[in-house]
Amino acid sequence: MAEQLSEHVRFSGGQLTQLAGGFPGLQSRWDARLREQAARDLALVAERAPEIADLTVASPVSSDADVEDFWENLARTAAAIRAADHVGAEFTVVPPNAEHPDWNDYELSERLGPVLSAEENRHGSDPLVMHQMLIDHGGRWMRLAGYGDEPGELPTDEDVVELALQRAKAGVQALVVKLVGRKTGIIRIDLRTDITAPEIHERLLAYDENFGWVFIRIAGRRHTLLVQDWIPMVDEYRLFVVDGKIVSGAGCIEEFTPYDRADPDDRFDIRLRRHRGNAVTGQRSEGLHIDSTVVERYLRFAAPIAAAHGGTLVIDVATTTDNKPVIIELNPLPNSGLYASNPDAVYRRLVRARDRGYGVYPLMRDAPKLLEFARPINGFDDTEPEPERKDTRS
Ligand SMILES: Nc1ncnc2c1ncn2[C@@H]1O[C@H](COP(=O)(O)OP(=O)(O)OP(=O)(O)O)[C@@H](O)[C@H]1O
Ligand SMILES: [Mg+2]
Repeated sequence: MAEQLSEHVRFSGGQLTQLAGGFPGLQSRWDARLREQAARDLALVAERAPEIADLTVASPVSSDADVEDFWENLARTAAAIRAADHVGAEFTVVPPNAEHPDWNDYELSERLGPVLSAEENRHGSDPLVMHQMLIDHGGRWMRLAGYGDEPGELPTDEDVVELALQRAKAGVQALVVKLVGRKTGIIRIDLRTDITAPEIHERLLAYDENFGWVFIRIAGRRHTLLVQDWIPMVDEYRLFVVDGKIVSGAGCIEEFTPYDRADPDDRFDIRLRRHRGNAVTGQRSEGLHIDSTVVERYLRFAAPIAAAHGGTLVIDVATTTDNKPVIIELNPLPNSGLYASNPDAVYRRLVRARDRGYGVYPLMRDAPKLLEFARPINGFDDTEPEPERKDTRS
């Protein structure tokens, strides 16, 4: 029975609508070998998963296609197909229905691929947003809090306005306030040592229309916000962790896809962006550079953390002004952006992993347990050594 389970990989393809949004074509900026790989991947996906992409490199190029979305999803799918082939598992694309995939436990245990946004529990809390690992290795003050619209509604050490007043008095320049329930909201509020409570309310509620509404909705509820000191961070980098082992990594460079890798054989891209542009950093994206020592430092820093966690996730790290690595945030792996990582390195591990990274999704919560039964894959040698590379510390 166990062998039967593991001989199948079910790829959830229903969400990959990006691939239907037009073909962006092969990109001239890619290395010749990666252009060839992109063409091969497209042919592979078109042949084995025509539900996801039914195109060839000669298909008409659409000028408004999203280059990053298209190629990232294609790379992920192609890597999953190769990983399934590698262990001799059958690959099936299961287009989930619009609401949630109507899969039984066995099917869930065979799952490998992205989840639908509808599967994410919007109102429950995401355990990764406030994981102890982040608190221990974030390198900055942070607390779980809530927003109260009346004084005394929440304990003072859990009220974002009270906490902001304390941090302001301590001389902290700005706070980053992140919504726990639905991971689509993060804002920065600037402080002054003599800032007042009404001003902080005002800054939270008037940040923009969307946040004003969300703060009113969460008012009085505990553990709805992660409040942290704002600290300058540079060289943000994403580490892909499977069963506690760092298997690939790439700089957080928005426009990069796996085909933008500097070297197709590497698992760790060594290009970094000094400043990531967003509302929190208050900066524009700039400063592309190459630095293997920074990447090596990240690997040394995160390898024991990943091992202690033992599961599957992505860890975003950065460097502070005193040159120390810190964790920015943790995310589930299935839907995480790939940047210029090596998806084959990730999926080859993932296809035989104890934890495929779905543990935080309500529907998938029991799947890792079922995966224990699914192993070992019949006749597959799990002891295959990883190729030696000097930049590999995991
Ligand atoms: N405490 C902090 N101090 C300074 N900058 C921060 C802090 N927290 C987050 N940032 C910046 O904000 C960005 C977004 O934060 P985070 O990754 O935690 O949220 P997110 O909701 O996942 O956003 P995104 O999807 O854009 O990554 C980070 O990549 C980093 O540039
Ligand atoms: Mg992030």
